[in-house]
Amino acid sequence: MASLSSWQQLYSPATPSPLQPLVHPLLSQHQIKLWVKRDDLLHATISGNKWRKLKYPLRHAIESQATGLLSFGGAYSNHLHALAAIGQQLALPTLAIVRGEASSQHNPTLTDARRWGMSLEFVDRQQYRLRQDSRWLAELSARYPGYYLIPEGGSCAGALPGVAELWSELAAQFRSSSAWPLPSTIDHLILPVASGGTLAGLISTRPAASQLTGYAVLKGASWLKEEVCALYPAAAQDNGWQLRLDHHGGGYAKSSIEDRAAIALLSEQLALPLEPIYSGKAILGLFRDIAAGYYPAHSQLVFLHTGGLQGTRSALSRKP
Ligand SMILES: Cc1ncc(COP(=O)(O)O)c(C=O)c1O
Repeated sequence: MASLSSWQQLYSPATPSPLQPLVHPLLSQHQIKLWVKRDDLLHATISGNKWRKLKYPLRHAIESQATGLLSFGGAYSNHLHALAAIGQQLALPTLAIVRGEASSQHNPTLTDARRWGMSLEFVDRQQYRLRQDSRWLAELSARYPGYYLIPEGGSCAGALPGVAELWSELAAQFRSSSAWPLPSTIDHLILPVASGGTLAGLISTRPAASQLTGYAVLKGASWLKEEVCALYPAAAQDNGWQLRLDHHGGGYAKSSIEDRAAIALLSEQLALPLEPIYSGKAILGLFRDIAAGYYPAHSQLVFLHTGGLQGTRSALSRKP
């Protein structure tokens, strides 16, 4: 059974994820200052928002003496990849209900997950749609007694406090650094959004002077607003956050050859590793918005790199 000390060890990084200034001609042209918060460097295998979102649900699972962790995801899921690594580190068995064919167990994401001891159960799309259905969840709980259920992507109310801690970390970094001129305020914190859990967590402790702007990576995602408010009801009365819905590039995990090339170019120019599904899509949207004058001159922006670089290996093999 996992112990709280192994959890504490996992959540005691020696240093916070780096905050780095970005340089690009478009930024100088529009008099925008941009930094990147490198959550992709939080942990070797449990990168980005997964490390933050899973923090308190994992502690709860250990305190409840869970005998394992059970969650849901697609065949390229960063969440399942991170959960498998966590299971190995905490010595907790992990089980994934995976949307898709059993043949996908050989892709790089699921190969890692299996190597770290995760058991995989494949279901078709129709069955997968029932992932929030109480009857199916009860059936799974009966089949895997003592397993702690974590929703797809780790997005649940319990995930919010772990994400919310990012603001105090950022504030401390701004206070302590003298290496380069730092702004006293962040005008916008910018991030990719899929299920809305990360955004909801950040809204919950948003400093009054900072806006939050989420770039939806899914097509037609106007429902995301409700999703965010369902996770954090006070978000409905908060005018300090917005979603950019037109930078999805054709839909989840889809992008044109031109957009992929533009992401690769930005990655090179900024000396920043990006993947095409989350960080690449969102930063491309951000740069297009900057070019269009969406952010006023002298804005001070921080882009949150939410990790997911492991997915690049699988994304490269997908058709554009
Ligand atoms: C790397 C990465 N970035 C961003 C997101 C989006 O986070 P959220 O689902 O909390 O909106 C995800 C998860 O879906 C992800 O894997």
